[in-house]
Amino acid sequence: MARLSLTHHLIRCEREHGLDPDLRLLLEVVARAVKAISHAVGKGALGGVLGAAGSTNVQGEAQKKLDVLSNEILVEANSWGGYLAGMASEEMDGPVGIPVAYPRGKYLLLYDPLDGSSNIDVNVSVGTIFSVLKCPPGVTEPDERSFLQPGSQQVCAGYAVYGPQTLMMLTIGHGVFGFTLDRDTGSFLLTHEQVQIPADTGEFAINASNMRHWEPPVKRYVNELLAGRTGPRGRDFNMRWVASMVADVHRIMSRGGIFMYPRDARDPGKPGRLRLLYEGNPMAFLVEQAGGAATNGHQRILEVLPGKLHERVAVFLGSKNEVDLVTSYHRA
Ligand code: F6P
Repeated sequence: MARLSLTHHLIRCEREHGLDPDLRLLLEVVARAVKAISHAVGKGALGGVLGAAGSTNVQGEAQKKLDVLSNEILVEANSWGGYLAGMASEEMDGPVGIPVAYPRGKYLLLYDPLDGSSNIDVNVSVGTIFSVLKCPPGVTEPDERSFLQPGSQQVCAGYAVYGPQTLMMLTIGHGVFGFTLDRDTGSFLLTHEQVQIPADTGEFAINASNMRHWEPPVKRYVNELLAGRTGPRGRDFNMRWVASMVADVHRIMSRGGIFMYPRDARDPGKPGRLRLLYEGNPMAFLVEQAGGAATNGHQRILEVLPGKLHERVAVFLGSKNEVDLVTSYHRA
């Protein structure tokens, strides 16, 4: 039997779950932009897209050419459809409105256009992460405050991973579905249905070079994992770290695991390294929809009220029993 296309799946969601047709069309536009980014990533040196752009973003990080290009692709694709009231990107200082020439819609799109930038030039998987919120009622020109909603308000979240295959994982709040890009036809086809993260795992992901900077509960948890069979956990654990959140989370979506990027003492003023609105919230929504858990060590990420657009967050997500355990160590 032929596989369902993304379009067919979204129409099914419209019929079965009342998915708003405007949101469906918005997701089609995002999928088109993702295809364009996948194409650019795939060209690599042949497309002249590798290397530094020579600019820095609002977080003071050096931008790669592909960071800038992917951001431009998403802004351009989403400016004229009439489904959005505004956009916010990890790569832009503030929100971007819709040009006056085009109609405004009722949604806000937030995204990290190219996650895992350090992997771009070494041909390791990178990705795009996105999230959709409703624009607050009565607001036609959204400013930063319009975007400062807890992740529980997301109506959709997804990511695309540009790896051996280009794959897009999506939730509209009725489970997680994955679509593989058929490079021959240019269609996204349904390949992963109702993804489930096992509650138990033997795999963890963390940048262990930062261990000396972690807080005591994280040190305790990771030390117990490292102690393996002879330690308090009584079994061995394996470690994986791609350093592209999208790739690490996708592995966890596929076979379980726990991903951690805790707050640390390198920058004590910040609650974490990853961005709440572009990384933490969309991934937390997807992971919870797949039966996993996502906390900042103290509360569900989806319940954190953002104070600013580029707010950071500590992240513990994946297999529920492990996330619950490390979260409980923060209370001990
Ligand atoms: O966006 C930040 C990011 O690139 C994530 O994709 C990834 O998980 C993390 O940073 C890697 O951090 P580090 O360089 O400390 O390993």
